[in-house]
Amino acid sequence: MKLLLLCLGLSLACAHVEGKPNVVKHNINMTKAAGVWYSVLFASDDREQIEENGSLRVFVQTLQVLDNSSLYYQLHIMMDDGYNTVKVVETNYDEYIMYHLHNVNDERNFQLMELYGRDKDLSQDIKDRFVRYCRQHGVPEENILDLTTVDRCLETRDAKETQGEEET
Ligand SMILES: *[C@@H]1O[C@H](CO)[C@@H](O)[C@H](O)[C@H]1NC(C)=O
Ligand SMILES: *[C@@H]1O[C@H](CO)[C@@H](O)[C@H](O)[C@H]1NC(C)=O
Ligand SMILES: *[C@@H]1O[C@H](CO)[C@@H](O)[C@H](O)[C@H]1NC(C)=O
Repeated sequence: MKLLLLCLGLSLACAHVEGKPNVVKHNINMTKAAGVWYSVLFASDDREQIEENGSLRVFVQTLQVLDNSSLYYQLHIMMDDGYNTVKVVETNYDEYIMYHLHNVNDERNFQLMELYGRDKDLSQDIKDRFVRYCRQHGVPEENILDLTTVDRCLETRDAKETQGEEET
């Protein structure tokens, strides 16, 4: 498994709350979104890519905001090439965050949605929001994987944390 670091330039702006209280969908303050997250749900319009040994199984470890306002993701990812754009869909900072990734490569394009939790699992309510978002973007429910039931490399991760290689 390869460790790949993705950086995404992003400007910080004021938070704007819309819909459900505390849910931020626009001008997300990435400083508040930084820190440790766990992958909870995972969806793609190309299900093979996210199944076991698929080329796009991504397990987030930490998210940091660098001094230059770039985002720094530390991810476990099995993917060799292609160009990715990552967008934060919504978050409430202290429970969950949703990402929408578009991958463009030589063979085909596909999209990937991810739901991360500050804890290892999330409430059904939040999972349902994610399922709705995926459906609205053409990803059916059967293409959504629950990562709380599979090996998320947490052992590797915990071992690393013990060694003090991670920062918050
Ligand atoms: C921000 O800094 C990081 C680490 O030094 C660098 O990799 C990244 O390219 C920089 N981002 C921009 C937009 O300059
Ligand atoms: C973003 O959040 C950080 C940490 O809570 C805070 O210091 C900063 O003022 C916020 N930025 C904006 C633009 O609200
Ligand atoms: C994934 O790869 C591992 C190691 O090569 C193998 O043991 C496992 O059976 C594979 N799983 C699937 C679903 O192909």
